[in-house]
Amino acid sequence: MNKVKWIYAIVALALLATLLPTGSAQAAPASALACSKTYTVSAGDTLSGIADKEYGSVKAYWPIMAGTNLKNKEDSSFAHIENPDLIEPGWKLCIPSADDAKAFLAEFPGPNTPAGVSMLFGKGAKGQLIVASWWTNGGEFAGLNEMFKQFKAANPDVEIVNAAIAGGAGTNFKGQLLSQLLGGVAPDTFQLHAGWEADTYDPGTLIVNVDDVYARNKLESVFPPTLLNMLKFKDHYWGVPVNIHRSNVLWYNKALFEKAGITAPPATWDEFFAAADKLKAAGIQPVALGGKDGFELQHTFETILAGSMSAEEYAGLWTGKTSWKSEKVTNALNTFKKYLTYANADRDALTWAAATQLLIDGKAAMNIMGDWANGQFISGNFTDYGWAPVPGTKGTFVALSDSFALPAKAPNVENANLWLDLAGSKPAQEAFNKLKGSICARTDCDYSTYNGYLQSAAADWKVDAIVPSVTHGAAAKPSWATKGYADAVTLFATSGDVAAAQTALVQAAVDAGYPQ
Ligand code: GAL
Repeated sequence: MNKVKWIYAIVALALLATLLPTGSAQAAPASALACSKTYTVSAGDTLSGIADKEYGSVKAYWPIMAGTNLKNKEDSSFAHIENPDLIEPGWKLCIPSADDAKAFLAEFPGPNTPAGVSMLFGKGAKGQLIVASWWTNGGEFAGLNEMFKQFKAANPDVEIVNAAIAGGAGTNFKGQLLSQLLGGVAPDTFQLHAGWEADTYDPGTLIVNVDDVYARNKLESVFPPTLLNMLKFKDHYWGVPVNIHRSNVLWYNKALFEKAGITAPPATWDEFFAAADKLKAAGIQPVALGGKDGFELQHTFETILAGSMSAEEYAGLWTGKTSWKSEKVTNALNTFKKYLTYANADRDALTWAAATQLLIDGKAAMNIMGDWANGQFISGNFTDYGWAPVPGTKGTFVALSDSFALPAKAPNVENANLWLDLAGSKPAQEAFNKLKGSICARTDCDYSTYNGYLQSAAADWKVDAIVPSVTHGAAAKPSWATKGYADAVTLFATSGDVAAAQTALVQAAVDAGYPQ
């Protein structure tokens, strides 16, 4: 790195430090990470092992990652470390002195904050682009990486910083991001569901509208009206959508169905339970269910609700038109209760991805999950699966959409805008969604090289009744979705008390402003 860039890096990091909330760590000056020596990775090395050797602590690998990435900007013979768990033999690392490493660690706020992760990377001539999401699983990361590749090719002078925080459906991400934004620390762009979720971030205060991105890219003419309706919140657009996901999908392992003598996927709950009994009798675990990410139960129940009433009635649950006192809600609770008896007992230990893996490994036969599971099958090279709408939901598409938002305090606004332009573009959406397991937000994508599931989802989107997902930010105000509704469902999954759960769901609707 030449002198000017060093000064730039020092000034930028110092500026970043001023953005940190009071009481939190301040960014260390980059100059503190000069290399005291170099190290070439050998087979079997791990970054924490090297840190242990150098500094006597297996946890002290961050300064090595940061020092190496900074050095890489001036001398590309040094490695570029994107993930500290993935280093390769032959890579040249920069080892800062023990004092520098200690100083860095004292200032490092941790890898789960935009400011912290920014410290781990160098800066391009045009700075960084800090992208925050919860996409860390196979298909999720593969899709995101396609967008990174396109961005890098078009903007080689910008260093991309992947500020992802693991946890399905943003379970860890949303709370952490909100407290960072409230503390004045922001990434350049972050994952935001279309719909009510924007309300989490006090639109107009913590995030700014992206209407101008829509205008300059003429996005209103390339996204379907249903999606535009979902995206428009308080008269503005707050995110540029990259996809449309479907939540109400029943996935099944074909070989296990065959083994149990099941010839067609169940279309009704009676058929579902008959199939589950056959699987059980054949010694096969009927249902795979996760719970660790804290959204899987609510997700499953929303799809059962959607299958217990018409699409219009289901949508009406979130607008006050359908009463939660309805007998159809009682029926949905009873169905859910029965469904849970066919699931693995260790659901709280499994993420959605781990539950999906049970299907891939042939250890369970069925799973209700959004079509990011399809992305997981693709990344796991698993093709022996089938799909069907969750029983009772044929003709209904429970929809959600991932978009990218613009924080008011984005440190690299120009780069953020370049990212938003890319996110709405056809090439980015075609490459991203093919691996992510979703369909494009745009109506002009070419699906000819997409897999069979995605082609069917694209066809269903055109003819089905589209209703919004509550678990994934679209249908209801955040406090209702993540507390009132979510708490009632989570408690019910343990208690099994139908009447109490329905009372809690009714109360949640009342609390949300919809008298029942
Ligand atoms: C959803 C998100 C998807 C997928 C899923 C599991 O909320 O919209 O893109 O990532 O969570 O993490």
